[in-house]
Order: sequence, then structure tokens, then C-alpha cells
Amino acid sequence: MMSSNLRIDGPRLLSRLAALSAIGATPEGGCRRLALSDEDRQGRDWLVAELEALGLSVRIDAIGNIIGILKGREDGPAVIMGSHIDTVGTGGRFDGALGVVAGVEVLATLRDAGLTPRRDMAVIAFTNEEGARFHPDMLGSYVWAGGMSVADAHAELDADGAVLGTELKRIGYEGLEEPGFLPAHAYLEMHIEQGPVLESEGGGLGAVTGIQAICWLELTLTGKPSHAGTTPMAYRKDPGLAAARINLFANELTRTTQDQLANCGVIRVQPSNVNVVPETVIMTLDLRNPSDDLLAETEAAVRNFCAELSARDGITISFRDLARFPATPFTEELIATIETSATELGQPIRRMISGAGHDAQMMSRICPTAMVFIPSIGGLSHNPAEFSTNQDIAAGANVLLNAAWRVANA
Ligand code: GLV
Ligand code: MN
Ligand code: MN
Repeated sequence: MMSSNLRIDGPRLLSRLAALSAIGATPEGGCRRLALSDEDRQGRDWLVAELEALGLSVRIDAIGNIIGILKGREDGPAVIMGSHIDTVGTGGRFDGALGVVAGVEVLATLRDAGLTPRRDMAVIAFTNEEGARFHPDMLGSYVWAGGMSVADAHAELDADGAVLGTELKRIGYEGLEEPGFLPAHAYLEMHIEQGPVLESEGGGLGAVTGIQAICWLELTLTGKPSHAGTTPMAYRKDPGLAAARINLFANELTRTTQDQLANCGVIRVQPSNVNVVPETVIMTLDLRNPSDDLLAETEAAVRNFCAELSARDGITISFRDLARFPATPFTEELIATIETSATELGQPIRRMISGAGHDAQMMSRICPTAMVFIPSIGGLSHNPAEFSTNQDIAAGANVLLNAAWRVANA
């Protein structure tokens, strides 16, 4: 069977996406399915039912990754597709969910066509990709790839002290399988770009060449709480002011260090009162760069700045790593397969690096890996207004189908 004749069913894919989007839907038109929340459980229940309805072998592993397997003609490693169905707190409908329903649609298309691949094919929804609730991000795929033990992952705490393992049990998704139980021949992930590049270049798809390096730091700044009306400025030890200085310093580094990105997305001030100089601030820094060396330089500069600020202003600063992953190039042969598939389907495609982290970054530790991106309208993501067109969704899913079928039969 020639893979070029196969097409996914666009409306069916979109109706699955709509069904998943309805779970945890927000009034703003986005989704809130934080990892291991009740909404995540409902999304998982929906997914498991879809996979079972397709007659796939459905397995859950000890970190809650959900796997649907289509048996191939031969025993051996599987061609795995996947992504995640958890979202950030103010997420959209496409980030992660699209990659999972596209993988489901690929398997549904093969089943409908009565096609059995040479190798096993599978779709996985990985646990806690976003890192919005538990750290690090991409936790489920990190555990799957052997980068973190199940016990360590189960011990992770969210910001309110909830324990990951307890939450996983509570929602009924601590499965019996050992993470990584299904050996991978290759991993392919379809995802929205989440940035403005493809749209601004006139549309078309992206063949992702790799993922930039990422470093998430949590800083706890401690000063001296005091009266905002009576404490002369020179007497204050204000961690709120220190947090602002650190944020500004990191931001300014992005002007002088090539391709450097910096974000302070969390600032928690204690006590949070208009007339109290705060006692502590917990802040996060998300630093990214395509170059591991430049990222290391940036991190060192931030740490030096903090040491100086601490000595000068009497603020105690402690650091905790929330996530740290090196720059990850994908597999040339598979990137080329994505391009070949797009070209065969008449879809323009360009090579690009991913600014966002993805489960593919973890999977590339254990198998050849590649991704296909579709344009994000307005470059928006991690935002309820996140949007991609039906046409681009179908184009991306057809490339996923074409490429996965090729790899599964090669
Ligand atoms: C994952 O969404 C990331 O933060 O890159
Ligand atoms: Mn994602
Ligand atoms: Mn995301």
C-alpha cells in the first residue's frame, strides 16, 4: 500500500479535538486541564475510551502515561506518536491535545483502511508535559526515557504541597506498566508552532530540527518585613525590590546575549500587603537559548548578580532547579522523512528550531525523533486565543500519517 494514497479524516480529527477541548473549557475559549487535576482525569477518561473504541491495546504506566498500541506484523520496537493533554492554567485548545488526537486519527485511518504496519505503532499522551503544576516540565516523557525515577517523580510537589504520586492515585491513573515498557523504533510528534515564524513566513509547515536548551530556576528571596510608612528607605531589606532588579537584569541580558530568552512568570510575595515591606518573594526564571554554552553564561551571570545584590542589600537568596535540559538536535534522517512526506503531499515546509519544550525532547534521548509544526495564528500559545486553521491541522496530520507509515514499514 502506498502511503501517498492515505489521508486522515479531517472532520473526525476536529470533532475529537472539540470533544477534548470541551473538557476543562474556560469562558475565554481556552482550556484548563492542569496535570492530575479532575479536568485532566476527565480528559484521560475520554482518551482511554477513544483508544479502546479503536480496538487498540490500551496501557497505563506507573507515571500515568497513556499508551494505545496498534499491533504490527512483526515483533519489535514501535513507531510512537504522541504529545500531552495537560495544559497550563490559562491554556489554549491545541497545545499538546492536537498532537495526541492527530496520533489517534492516524491509527484510526490505518484501521479503517484495513492496513497493518510492519512495526507496532502507538500513540502516547504523556503526563505533566507543561510543568505548570509539577516540575520538571515534560515529566512523563522524562520518566519514560529513563531520565528520572518513578519514585522521584511521584515525590514531586505542586505549589500547594500536593504530592504527585497521591494525585496520580486519586485520579486513578497510576498504571501497572513500567515506563518505557514499549521499546521505541522512532518518535514523531505533531504540534502547533506556538510562535509567529511560520505564519509570518507566509504559512506552510515546519520540520523541526531540534529544541533549544532550557533552565528553570526558582529563587527564594528573604528580607526583613517592616512598616512601609515608618521604615526609612535606607533601613529596608526588601526582597520585592530585589526580585524586580533580578528580573530586569535577566531581561537586559537578552539584549546582549545572542538568542537569549528570559521570563519571570511567577512572583509570590509574602505577606502580600500594601503597607508591608515583604519578608519573602518566591520568583521563577525561565531561561532559554539554542546554545548550551550561552545559556550557561547567562545563568552564571544571573547567579553572580544575585550574589552581589545579596551582599549589598542584605537579602538572602536561595536557588532551586525546577528544570534543566540541554539543547536537543533531532535525527537528520527523520527530519528529512518529515520533509519528504510534506513534499509528497504538496505541502510547503521549512526547517526550524523549536522555542518550546516538547515530549520529543525527552524521547530523543532513547530513539530517533522528529516533529512537524503547523502555524499558530498570531503566534499565540499558552493563551486561550491560541488558534490554528482546520486546513493546517489536516495538512500536519496527513504529514504525520505519511511519515509514521513510512517509518513503520521501512
Ligand atoms: C512547554 O510548554 C514549554 O514551556 O516550553
Ligand atoms: Mn505542548
Ligand atoms: Mn505548552
